[in-house]
Amino acid sequence: MVEEIRDLYDAERQLVKALPKMAKGATSDELRSLIETHLEETQGQVKRLEQAFEMLQEKPRGKHCAGIAGIIKEGSDLLEEDFDGAVLDAGIIAGAQRAEHYEMGAYGSVIAWAKQLGEGDVASLLEETLEEEKGADEKLSALAESSINQEAASEGGDQDSMEEGTRRRSAAKGNGGNGASRTSSRDSKNGSGKRSMVPPPSSKPGRNGSASRSASRRS
Ligand SMILES: [Fe+2]
Repeated sequence: MVEEIRDLYDAERQLVKALPKMAKGATSDELRSLIETHLEETQGQVKRLEQAFEMLQEKPRGKHCAGIAGIIKEGSDLLEEDFDGAVLDAGIIAGAQRAEHYEMGAYGSVIAWAKQLGEGDVASLLEETLEEEKGADEKLSALAESSINQEAASEGGDQDSMEEGTRRRSAAKGNGGNGASRTSSRDSKNGSGKRSMVPPPSSKPGRNGSASRSASRRS
């Protein structure tokens, strides 16, 4: 459990550095302010993890989190690519949701383990963070569904110069040049793949989902 908390401590600190770049890259003011708000939450999440170390009488030390590093790398690669407008924003949302789901999985496991080990205070503290991650994920989905995916689907048709867009457009029978927009054309309720591609966090909080579910029933 402590090792996993170290992994999360490193992940959150990587995100504190990466989120400003994603916010700066966003076209939509709404998306930018959503990312900036989550940056503030993330700074608080780092502090909560430091509190958790203290409760467990452990030194606050991170351990390189390769998973979140990979997700951040994909996000910065996206910013380097030739996407703009709502298509870029849809991609940023997809990347941000990958990060949220990764964190939700990890926090779900740590919370379940903390309960199992009789560390109820640590569990309650990290549950606050888990709720923030879920909230951020839901807000990203709502923004994608309410406007950005639709805009990306129509803008995608104008980006003929993009090799990737052209390839995907033909695969999507004439719809936009972006993965999220292609998905949304099949399923209008879809927010960057969340509902069709990822199980709901409440039913599968992570690789330790069953432990977490039974732990929350007991509490
Ligand atoms: Fe976080």
